[in-house]
Amino acid sequence: MSGVVPSVKPNERAASDASAPVGIFDSGLGGLSVLRAVRATLPRERLIYVADSLHAPYGERDDDFIVDRTMAIGAWLVGQGAKALVVACNTATAQSIALVRERLPIPLVGVEPGVKPAAAISATRVVGVLATAVTLRSARFQSLLERHAGDCRFICQPGHGLVQAVERCDTSSPALMALLESYLTPMLDANADTLVLGCTHYPFLDRAIRDIAGERLKIVDTSVAIARQLERLLDVHALKNSAEPSDALPRFCSTADGESQRQLAASLLQLDARVEHVDIPSRRTRLAEPHIV
Ligand code: DGL
Repeated sequence: MSGVVPSVKPNERAASDASAPVGIFDSGLGGLSVLRAVRATLPRERLIYVADSLHAPYGERDDDFIVDRTMAIGAWLVGQGAKALVVACNTATAQSIALVRERLPIPLVGVEPGVKPAAAISATRVVGVLATAVTLRSARFQSLLERHAGDCRFICQPGHGLVQAVERCDTSSPALMALLESYLTPMLDANADTLVLGCTHYPFLDRAIRDIAGERLKIVDTSVAIARQLERLLDVHALKNSAEPSDALPRFCSTADGESQRQLAASLLQLDARVEHVDIPSRRTRLAEPHIV
């Protein structure tokens, strides 16, 4: 399946408790777009969401930092009793999925840009991709293009500044619209008819993209595919929760103060939930903050 990193290891030892929560993690608020799809597809599952907003954006970080944070947060979620993990971040998936899969004792799903579905639907054979610079330069993304681009031309644009805007809950300011327009105009001028959202923050900009591009771009967002992959994974490991769907809200955690997360969840997901502040130290963040022992 394109857009979703296959995740079942034959010898993986799954946690045995189907009523345990699923952990979902992103560098910040973008993974909430994945959480929305998971809630719609798997309403019986309990969810813990961690936003590493203190350290976002990952797209401006070095590779070792991203691996370090992904491992630390994955291990923290295992410690909280997560039965499976969704790495709801293209950038973290691109840099660290193989290592995290090897080291964590629970099954996991990662996410990558929907190159294959875009190549399948583009009529003009010109496709735009918006993603972080780290994702676009990763070997994993380059290999996706090699395998699935076919005769399509992919115009790959790093979305500098877009993650920061969403982290501030800015999805429509004039400055954001101007930035987005500067990224989309060259794609439209080149006759692109399809746009891959290669970062989980960007689905929150879909209205802004529509305002700029109208119906000229078909938008490829893989959150629903990720939710379905999670469902298959839970089935394979006999971990699907069979309890009646509850009204319980996800447990929201943030390494920052959580205020933007609360606002975005309330305004875009209609989830009025408190956000817990959590400290998740890791090798690199300890080095950056020498006063913490
Ligand atoms: N949501 C993350 C992604 O999908 C954003 C990465 C970042 O923090 O730059 O790549």
